[in-house]
Amino acid sequence: MRILGIETSCDDTAIGIVRQTGSRFLVEAQVTASQALIHRKYGGVVPEVAAREHAVTILPTIQAALRQASVGWPQIDVIAVTGGPGLSTALVVGVEAARTLGYVLNKPIVRVNHIEGHVLSVYGSGGGKPKYPAVTLVVSGGHTELILVKRPGVYRLLGKTIDDAVGEAFDKTAKLLGLTYPGGKLLSDMARRGNPNSFSFPRSLLGKNSVDFSYAGLKTAVLYETMRHKKLTSRLKADIAASFQAAALEPLIVKTRLVLQKTKARSLLVGGGVAANTVLRQQLEKLVHESLKISLHLAPLGLCTDNGVMIAIAGYFHAQKKDFTPWNRLTADPNWELA
Ligand code: KG4
Ligand code: ZN
Repeated sequence: MRILGIETSCDDTAIGIVRQTGSRFLVEAQVTASQALIHRKYGGVVPEVAAREHAVTILPTIQAALRQASVGWPQIDVIAVTGGPGLSTALVVGVEAARTLGYVLNKPIVRVNHIEGHVLSVYGSGGGKPKYPAVTLVVSGGHTELILVKRPGVYRLLGKTIDDAVGEAFDKTAKLLGLTYPGGKLLSDMARRGNPNSFSFPRSLLGKNSVDFSYAGLKTAVLYETMRHKKLTSRLKADIAASFQAAALEPLIVKTRLVLQKTKARSLLVGGGVAANTVLRQQLEKLVHESLKISLHLAPLGLCTDNGVMIAIAGYFHAQKKDFTPWNRLTADPNWELA
């Protein structure tokens, strides 16, 4: 089965083509038209601008993906599209493209939840298959969630952020330190030159047994720290970046450990933009080494931030069960909750 995945929930027009053979997923195309440069001057994503850009780039991006995979429409079996959550104006462009193509070309359509895409992005690694039940940590610009996965398609939300997402905290701190949007990756590069023990920023644990997250306090603490100094030297910036990163990552590890203990999960899956963070990946490796019974499945670096491949992979699991949505009932839902 060959699936074309369409992702337009935020500021990336992303298309993936994936072929499922045996127990493996072969990534035949991955094309992303990033709008990062366009939104940079606003310091964040402007929904109206994002929608207009998606509308301009969606068909050329699909065409580029088909070329990259060296296939035409007759070879595409299923169209998978992000139905939500995300920016309403942005989602609607992908959904309308999928509806039109599905109708005109008579292809079955799968409506995919964006978070499910991040959860199942680990299948793109080509590594061993996760064992279930599994726990997934989704860490991105819009989400910080711990999800119990009974099996692909059956999810239960265990914990989530009560305010900002961890990626959002990275981006806001990056902005305070003069880095361009989205600054998460640049901030983590800067942190490499700093001392994580220079400042003791708060770790919001929300109580001993809580598996929810909170990043608003950390963001404010960093803001006050930057205001205390007349000039932010590059040494100081690197120390703030490293101390922020340590404080931002610690609750992720503490709560993931707690959830793994509580649920007796057999695997840990990790996806989303922040899953590309090197220090987080190292800490997660260390965490699973504490318990040899758990296997770790990190999204491959190329599939951490938003992409069309993860939507195609999630689409496969639905298509297998013939869980299709007719084109005339396909809608975008900006608040669609996975579980
Ligand atoms: O998954 P994603 O593309 O978008 C959402 O679904 O929200 O995640 C983007 C987020 C941004 O906040 C970005 O700054 C962050 O992931 N990010 C990182 C790193 N690479 C991307 N944060 C920390 N360290 C990184 N290496
Ligand atoms: Zn995402």
